Amino acid sequence: MTILHGSAATLPDERFDVEAVRKDFPILSTLVHGKPLVFLDSAASAQKPAAVLETMDTMYRTAYANVHRGVYTLSDLATARYEAARETVRRFLGAGDVSEIVFTSGGTDALNLVARCWAQAFLKPGDEILVCESEHHSNIVPWQLAAAATGAVVRPIPVTDEGAFDFDAFAAMLGPKVKLVAVAHMSNVLGTIFPIREIAAAAHAAGALIVVDGCQGAVHQPVDVKALGVDFYAVTGHKIYGPTGIGALYGRRELLETMPPYKGGGDMIETVSFERSTWAEPPARFEAGTPMIVEAVGLAAAIDYVESLGVERIHAHETDVLDHATRLLTRIPGLRIIGTAPGKGGVISFTVEGAHPSDIATLLDQRGVAVRAGHHCAQPLMVRMGVSATTRASFAMYSTRAEAEALASGVERAMALLR
Ligand code: ALA
Repeated sequence: MTILHGSAATLPDERFDVEAVRKDFPILSTLVHGKPLVFLDSAASAQKPAAVLETMDTMYRTAYANVHRGVYTLSDLATARYEAARETVRRFLGAGDVSEIVFTSGGTDALNLVARCWAQAFLKPGDEILVCESEHHSNIVPWQLAAAATGAVVRPIPVTDEGAFDFDAFAAMLGPKVKLVAVAHMSNVLGTIFPIREIAAAAHAAGALIVVDGCQGAVHQPVDVKALGVDFYAVTGHKIYGPTGIGALYGRRELLETMPPYKGGGDMIETVSFERSTWAEPPARFEAGTPMIVEAVGLAAAIDYVESLGVERIHAHETDVLDHATRLLTRIPGLRIIGTAPGKGGVISFTVEGAHPSDIATLLDQRGVAVRAGHHCAQPLMVRMGVSATTRASFAMYSTRAEAEALASGVERAMALLR
């Protein structure tokens, strides 16, 4: 066996060893209501491997101080770790330069940064922002706020009945007024993986920029922002097995250079006087105040861990579990899967006749199965699909076929109880 980063990794035949991976996640041995935890809510937030927990603990114990300010050894050490984390994110996303990676408090913060510092700064009345109707609220509301401040207009791009991007409708909406296209790499509800490269090419041909919410997408497939041709790409740490409170924005250097600051404070300035202050170059311009130092280092540890296993191999494993769960759920009479686009990622949203999604989730919890129920912060999508809520199971590198079976039998049992 090849051991990378002191944790579970590959078998000689390159088979993904999920049982070894599970041993790296201490929380997975938890009992819930006396039953083994079946954690199927990783799209909301993924669990953390020991490599992340230990990296953060060790840094606080041995290498912690504020960054970018000290002239003493510990501060230099912490600064080096923080900036090394930026390089890890750069490599992970395929960005050309570390100055294109801005640390944020999460994906929502990254999207709000673009809304405030690009959209609000540069849009004019009548300009259009095209937003896919399946987006999470964090990729809708910031554009509405920017539109309210500038007189721009937000227009929804439709999805098809199966939850795929309606490219023809999108192409018909493009025109000289369109300045920005906002779309997720992968839907948190449908699991659809959107054709970002093609959307970006069409947006650019029409003179618009593209911002991608990669909070789900970057977890489940390799990302190369240059190959995708995107202008902005937002990620969050906690869905990719890292800590909460940290995320990152990739922005093309030429764009970041033109953008005003996000927040004012220390570290984002070049000079300050009461007459006039000037701004630091990106990325510091967008990182006011003491940053999420240990969280950034924890995120880098999570990325190292994911890369040690291989993003493609994790994706193949998750697809196997997703396909197994889909087969089992599809056999249940009265169950409707919302989101059936080909090539989707490891998320299954569903409704069942005669039962509320929250009741299904509560009864599943009694069996130790954790799923999310509700509108998943995607209310326009719920309307489009003709539902008020769904139950959602989401898969991660540590999910198993047995867990998919526990989900399906738990749903059948809940349906019987609720009838
Ligand atoms: N965006 C997260 C989810 O889909 C919280 O559950």
